[in-house]
Amino acid sequence: MKYVTGFFFVTLLAFLALPTDGRTEDFSATERATILSLGPWPPPVTKDRSNRASGNPEAIALGKMLFFDRRLSKEDQTSCADCHKPELAFTDGMDLNEGYKKITRHTPTVINLRGHTWFGWGGEADNLWAQSIRPMLSRNEMAGSPSRVRRVITTDPNLSCRFKVAFGEDPATLGKYDVLVLVAKALAAWQETLVTEKSAFDHFRDALETGDTRAMNAYPAAAKRGLKIFAGEGRCTFCHLGPDFSNGEFGNIGVPFFIAKGKVDPGRYGGIKILKKSQYNLLGRFNDDKSAKTKVRTRHVLQQHRNWGEFKVPSLRNVALTAPYMHNGSVATLADVVEFYSDLDEERLHTDGEKILRPLRLPDQGKADLLAFLQTLSAPLSATIKASSVPSDCATVKN
Ligand code: HEC
Ligand code: HEC
Repeated sequence: MKYVTGFFFVTLLAFLALPTDGRTEDFSATERATILSLGPWPPPVTKDRSNRASGNPEAIALGKMLFFDRRLSKEDQTSCADCHKPELAFTDGMDLNEGYKKITRHTPTVINLRGHTWFGWGGEADNLWAQSIRPMLSRNEMAGSPSRVRRVITTDPNLSCRFKVAFGEDPATLGKYDVLVLVAKALAAWQETLVTEKSAFDHFRDALETGDTRAMNAYPAAAKRGLKIFAGEGRCTFCHLGPDFSNGEFGNIGVPFFIAKGKVDPGRYGGIKILKKSQYNLLGRFNDDKSAKTKVRTRHVLQQHRNWGEFKVPSLRNVALTAPYMHNGSVATLADVVEFYSDLDEERLHTDGEKILRPLRLPDQGKADLLAFLQTLSAPLSATIKASSVPSDCATVKN
């Protein structure tokens, strides 16, 4: 009897503690499994085997300095941080930026890129350091050159010293392409340290895993209902899946890809062509991975007609902080993205991947809930790996 009364009370308390809607038992077993697969966060720290600077504190410190250094661009005008602004979650808040010329693609964030397979909206690079070379050389972005980059490093005693400490090589004895690649590897090593902490969603996900009802109840009811749409009828997790909320591949969700009259952005189709031609891809001599492991994907990637108009499936972490949206910055707010998916233009969805997409036709409440869920994916950067102390032999070198 005592046991039964106790059980009754526990059940009653558990019932009272639950919100009136958005209850956790409202998730089906499949939805629950899907939700758990969106974590755990953060992912384990793994080294990028293609980059000998990955995880090297001296290279990370050098990469951080270079990310903010305008001298890498033509006429010292633009640094990486002028488009990837730390105060805007490493985006620029604009639909399309202008470096030296109008750029036809929107600036994505550089947070949480560790472990990605493809970089750029069309996957023009297969590794983070090669992607970091692209803006330095692009006529539209920084309009620099390998000789300019080498000159900046070799003529600045502090940078030159730090380069030596990080790589054990004197940049003055290296050719311009080797210096360019090592600069990019330092930039990549620093970007790898930009990882976010657990978001409100991650705390909920962890609580769901451990059965911690109290912690589960701290997650807003609207976000729970939105999560149910996201992982269920919305089918969002077909593409935005795993701890990164992305399958790491490409899709066409019907965002128009006309750039100007008669000009289109070929997306992944053009990306594969650029990737295969690049001397900085993982099949080339700059890949530090001597086992063949990192090369496999690039060797086997095939350009197919369906790749036309496909763009990288963006991660949704921090998505509330990175407006505007899509590869061309054409969708202004997160509420507009929800509208976009709710009213999808079926005529535009014509290639294979999109057969799973259909207009959601959500009622206003559903839209508000999906938005509330997306807003719980934000979190600040975790303390970046401590920038190493200034190496003693560089400390005396004046800038
Ligand atoms: C003029 C603005 C601008 C500057 C300067 C700039 N970027 Fe970017 N960045 C962009 C745009 C636009 C894209 C998308 C490019 C594309 O898809 O072709 C991008 C994409 C990237 C990506 C790919 C992210 C992903 O999700 O695939 C990385 C990494 C990156 N930039 C790093 C850098 C680094 C490092 C520098 C400095 C060496 C830099 N960027 C300078 C605008 C800029
Ligand atoms: C078929 C794969 C696919 C499905 C399913 C899908 N998405 Fe996307 N999503 C993408 C792709 C690809 C893009 C980028 C498209 C572009 O820029 O042209 C994107 C972009 C977004 C963006 C903008 C992110 C940014 O940084 O620009 C958000 C937000 C988003 N999706 C949320 C959702 C939600 C919510 C659902 C479910 C209702 C969903 N997605 C379903 C593939 C998908």
